Amino acid sequence: MSNDKVFATRQMPGSTLERLSQYCDLEVWDDFMPPDYEIITEKMSDLAGLLCLLTDRIDPQLMDAGSNLKVISNMAVGFDNIDIEAATLRGIPVGNTPGVLTETTADFAFALLMAAARRIPEGRQYVQDGKWRTWHPTVLAGQDIFGATLGIIGSGRIGAAVARRAKGFKMRLLVNSLETEAEIRQLGGEKVGLDDLLAQSDYVSMHVPLTDETHHMISDRELGLMKSTAILINTARGSVLDPMALYHALRDGQILAAALDVTDPEPIPLDDPLLTLDNCLIVPHIASASVATRAKMAEMAVDNVIAGLRGERLPTCVNPEVYD
Ligand code: GLV
Repeated sequence: MSNDKVFATRQMPGSTLERLSQYCDLEVWDDFMPPDYEIITEKMSDLAGLLCLLTDRIDPQLMDAGSNLKVISNMAVGFDNIDIEAATLRGIPVGNTPGVLTETTADFAFALLMAAARRIPEGRQYVQDGKWRTWHPTVLAGQDIFGATLGIIGSGRIGAAVARRAKGFKMRLLVNSLETEAEIRQLGGEKVGLDDLLAQSDYVSMHVPLTDETHHMISDRELGLMKSTAILINTARGSVLDPMALYHALRDGQILAAALDVTDPEPIPLDDPLLTLDNCLIVPHIASASVATRAKMAEMAVDNVIAGLRGERLPTCVNPEVYD
């Protein structure tokens, strides 16, 4: 055990943090809610490791509040909450948790697609409101999934995993990028431009990381290209969509429905207009939330911290250029 101080900004599943505490002097933030930015900043002065979540903003000022930081480990595959360039400039390796959540997140994206297409949340509400008085030919009729066209925006690991699921439904697959070219092509995926993808798809599923380029990449113009029967699914990051543009498109029937695991901001305020719409299904950023996957993410995040403290290369490093 070393004297290195590590701060974990939340409790984690299982005995992962117990394992970490055998390597270092570990402090764990026990509240359900995240520590304020100021609290993390205060802790930084003598920290060697920071184990954080996507709810923690890790910017240059925060990094500069410490002088001994050897590793930042994010328990998430996404890392848009961390200024990676600033970490690299300071020689701090940043870890994330890719791979282990791919299939779980793809399951959930497909679950959202199916729930919105077949109006499952509305059906539940209908029963609970006492409206189920008889079987009726038009009640809660939704959209078919089998044989429909799925547009996947961003075909990285999760996009490809969604494509595999779509194959079982004999869907036509359109992708706008071919990061996983061989796999998507093998599945019969066709590469098209973003505009064509939007115009031709019955379902559009977002799988891009949040960057300056992808911020609000779906806004008024893009929504205007989509079919009036189309359904938009977002399990990426809230601000890849322009929320006001989405609200107008859903309200005005420009597209049929949306299913969002992520919003901008998070949590979505209760007075957000999207929450007034029956055709917008919103859940609280839980796409990777299976018991097994969250446990694996925590293990990976801890492995990154331990490697960083030991001065070893992080097993999953976002900025490997720190080692050059
Ligand atoms: C969740 O959104 C993640 O990035 O892991």
